[in-house]
Amino acid sequence: MTRRPRLRNARRGLLALAATLTLAVGGLLASGASTPSRAATQEPCDIYATANTPCVAAHSTTRALFAAYNGPLYQVKRASDGATTNVSPLSAGGYANAATQDSFCVNTYCTITEIFDQSGHGNNLTDAPAGGAAGGPDILANANGAPAVAGGHKVYGVFISPGMGYRDDSTSGIATGNASEGEYAIFDGSHTNNGCCFDYGNAETNNHDDGAGTMEAIYFGTETAWGRGAGSGPWIMADLENGLFSGSSTGLNSADPTTNFRFTTAMVEGGANQWEILGGNADSGTLSTDFNGVRPSGYNPMKKQGAIILGIGGDNSDSSAGTFYEGVMTSGEPSASTEASVQANIVSVGYANFTLPSNPFTSGKLISLQATTPCCTGDYITGDTSGNDVGIAAVTSSSSSTLKANATWIVEPGLANSNCVSFKTDNGSGDFIRHFNFQLFLEPNDGTGQFALDATFCPRAGNSGSNYSFMSYNFSYKYIRHFNFLAYAASDGGSHAWDASSLWNEDTSFAVASPWA
Ligand code: AHR
Ligand code: AHR
Repeated sequence: MTRRPRLRNARRGLLALAATLTLAVGGLLASGASTPSRAATQEPCDIYATANTPCVAAHSTTRALFAAYNGPLYQVKRASDGATTNVSPLSAGGYANAATQDSFCVNTYCTITEIFDQSGHGNNLTDAPAGGAAGGPDILANANGAPAVAGGHKVYGVFISPGMGYRDDSTSGIATGNASEGEYAIFDGSHTNNGCCFDYGNAETNNHDDGAGTMEAIYFGTETAWGRGAGSGPWIMADLENGLFSGSSTGLNSADPTTNFRFTTAMVEGGANQWEILGGNADSGTLSTDFNGVRPSGYNPMKKQGAIILGIGGDNSDSSAGTFYEGVMTSGEPSASTEASVQANIVSVGYANFTLPSNPFTSGKLISLQATTPCCTGDYITGDTSGNDVGIAAVTSSSSSTLKANATWIVEPGLANSNCVSFKTDNGSGDFIRHFNFQLFLEPNDGTGQFALDATFCPRAGNSGSNYSFMSYNFSYKYIRHFNFLAYAASDGGSHAWDASSLWNEDTSFAVASPWA
């Protein structure tokens, strides 16, 4: 990265009185949040039970997977006082009551600490421990990372960035050895990477790579070190240990298509010397069978150990990214007609993007971003006029046109994910805000994947309880923050000076103002 001289060492300009340009944003509830939760009929695990391939693990932060389930879905923990609370369905068989999380996490940072097993087997997922490939415990997911809509209700998925992961090494009822099982999960087809290994399913109980056949998990992403499918991915593959398989061998299996629906149904199932990949759009249509054949050489019989992983590989390889909404593991291999019924149930949920209230982040829009910390409400996120630092600076109607342009941002589709945004300066240089060593800079887009990741931010409800915060796409526990008038990607209570917990919520919350330029 080119380093230009840094001019912004200290506060410049007087604190201005609070500008009145703030477009105040009120409540942050999803539209449709008052829709009654749906009457429970047959949910996925009822369907599997009727078919004698019962769920032995059922995980979802968005809904009950049994019509009768009314217990906790997941637990969140807040940074402010370390307290935890459980999020439960609105009613038996219904959607998650995200309002519990929203009110509990107001003015603080929350993580997802546990995803409860709804199957009655107690196979809850918690923070993954260290493994053969990476230390631990892994980073916990930002509870606010993946807002979505299910059945008309605001819900949250589990947004996994590299370093994050969940696991249960001490399970009950999960297939071991060569026993048959089925697994499905709903993922975000726009949020993947090529790191190892965004998995959900069966893995080793000792967090180590125990060799071929000691895993059988769904993999979803663009990793090509082992197998791959047609196109550029992401692909649904099976992580069978020491290999991601798109078919009976590693390498290209062109029958396994790129599957990148915003909400993607992914399935892996198998039995004695036979296994399958199924995939489809979680919002419509039926499943396609992307592979059905024999085990790869060296993987028959299977030696499954029955632990459960989410967002990592079997040895805690934790370089992957993805988003999880729901998933189950069954005892026995479900029939095609059972999986078709489950897909129909999934489609009936109507998973959809969550849109922020009066969403000001539409592509091409010009905005200014006003600090909300009481010190600094006359300040706006500003690209430096000569160096390439990004910080906050006081801007008024009598400011120079140069400063006004530097305090004005063009909202662009996120360079790494168009469901998030990138901020391009309006000063004519075409530069974007990106983080580097967790400081924000204005830089020209060099076209690399790294730049795209570092320049992509996901607008979220403001951490202070109002306005907006901007989650880093590749470090989803960090948000754009001002600190001593410079801007950073900052976590609440991390190792850098700018991660200080004091004023973190305010410093990471910005009002969207009319553009200065
Ligand atoms: O099989 C692919 C990966 O290889 C596994 O997830 C991991 O345990 C090993 O590094
Ligand atoms: O800002 C954190 C990281 O620092 C960025 O992802 C990378 O570009 C740099 O190494």
